[in-house]
Amino acid sequence: ALDAVRPRDLQGMRVVISAGGTREPIDPVRFLGNRSSGRQGVALADAARSRGADVVLIAAHLEVPPPAGVRVVEVGTAAELNAAMLAEQPGAELVIMAAAVADFRPVAVAGEKIKKTDDGAVPELRLERTDDVLTALAAARPAGQRLVGFAAETVGSEAELVALAAGKAARKGADVIIANRVGDGVVFGQASTDVIIVDAAGSVVAKASGDKLSVAHRILDALG
Ligand code: CTP
Ligand code: CA
Repeated sequence: ALDAVRPRDLQGMRVVISAGGTREPIDPVRFLGNRSSGRQGVALADAARSRGADVVLIAAHLEVPPPAGVRVVEVGTAAELNAAMLAEQPGAELVIMAAAVADFRPVAVAGEKIKKTDDGAVPELRLERTDDVLTALAAARPAGQRLVGFAAETVGSEAELVALAAGKAARKGADVIIANRVGDGVVFGQASTDVIIVDAAGSVVAKASGDKLSVAHRILDALG
């Protein structure tokens, strides 16, 4: 309904957005996952589309439906997300990593369901690192492409949040990190949010709070 009053200021812009949370299999019925609902990434996709962008949403286990009018590519694991993002990256003017990506995955996936045994033994899960998708995107980035990451941090102060976000932007080669504080009663999957957009030099580009769709529009305003 708000589409009519939104400017078509992203008309024809190619935008690739990841959303949701990856899952790393342990055996055929179990996985290591995270609590990301996908709401902020979906809101960004919806906001960009309503402003005229040509949007691809790389979707990892969304808890909310994807918006109409965007192309959806479904992925499961961090490796699948990495491959899908790198495949969609060429030709995009804006790439946003809103998905929560597993940092670790089981070294081996059991072929059969892991069973309890009579001796009470407990299996040990051996983990290995996944590839960092944002770093891979930065390495392959075409000239002029904007690259954006997210970070949710359990920090005591805004200054700490800004410092962590700036460090992540610099380390990964992203233009900005969109950061928010979590923990201490801040719940996952909420409709509203409170974010700060920080560049690699530690400058605060913008702040936004409110429902995830209005925050998405503020983020797109700040990135334009
Ligand atoms: N990210 C990624 N690939 C990974 C992990 C994270 O692309 N394997 C991206 C996320 O999508 C996000 C940004 O990197 O946009 C920051 O993620 P975060 O988990 O905060 O950073 P990490 O480098 O994994 O650091 P931490 O140890 O704090 O989890
Ligand atoms: Ca991480």
